[in-house]
Amino acid sequence: MGHIAIIGGTGLCDPTMLDHVTSGQMENYYGTIRYTRGTYKGKEIIFLARHGKYHSIPPHLINYRANILGLKKLGVTAILSTTAVGAINRDYKPDDFVLPDQFIDFTSHSRHGSFFDGGSNGVVHVDMTEPYCPSLRETVVQAAQELSYPLHASGTYVCTEGPRFETPAEIKMFDKLGGDIVGMTNVPEVCLAREAEMCYATISMVTNYAAGISPVPLTHAEVVEKMVQNSKRLRRLVMRAVDL
Ligand code: HPA
Repeated sequence: MGHIAIIGGTGLCDPTMLDHVTSGQMENYYGTIRYTRGTYKGKEIIFLARHGKYHSIPPHLINYRANILGLKKLGVTAILSTTAVGAINRDYKPDDFVLPDQFIDFTSHSRHGSFFDGGSNGVVHVDMTEPYCPSLRETVVQAAQELSYPLHASGTYVCTEGPRFETPAEIKMFDKLGGDIVGMTNVPEVCLAREAEMCYATISMVTNYAAGISPVPLTHAEVVEKMVQNSKRLRRLVMRAVDL
């Protein structure tokens, strides 16, 4: 798998699964990233908390380009991330793991979604036929099997701008378009990883039924609570995959 980084999402801000941890900071063209370097069974791993150590960076303000370029410059070749999502597809339910293989982008482009803005980097149109790395996804499937964790081995991730949750009308539309799960962070993270020619996959944890499917209004506290409840299983799955 090469040199691996874990990008921890909501509920996974702390790399408690790593040994010999040291904190690092690295500056690159797009900004500064703070990361942790540690080992797992002797293998060196870099950990980056997507929302910051104390969950202080909302999805629309994450410096995705600094994060991905920073990891690239640290020598990372493969990224396994975690994401909290709501379920649109009725076959998916809270506490389920999903391994997306496609995304639909509903971010509103206040986000910087490319390294290729013209200028010295040029104009590049990167292929997105398989946005998520098939070999890394296969590794996660194998890890889930070994741990006997049920996992949806594919799914379409709809990425919204946030930080607000969706309206029931939006969820109905995403459902008609073929979306299975909805979250706020996978775009442009996955796109930038592809542009940087890094293998990228995400393990999504369903924390709630999406708006309108759930009979009650959704809260961020509910999302965090579910992630915390499931964090042991999620960490175990991530680390099993990283170890394969
Ligand atoms: N919508 C968007 N992002 C999310 C959700 C949701 O329902 N649940 C967790 N992250």
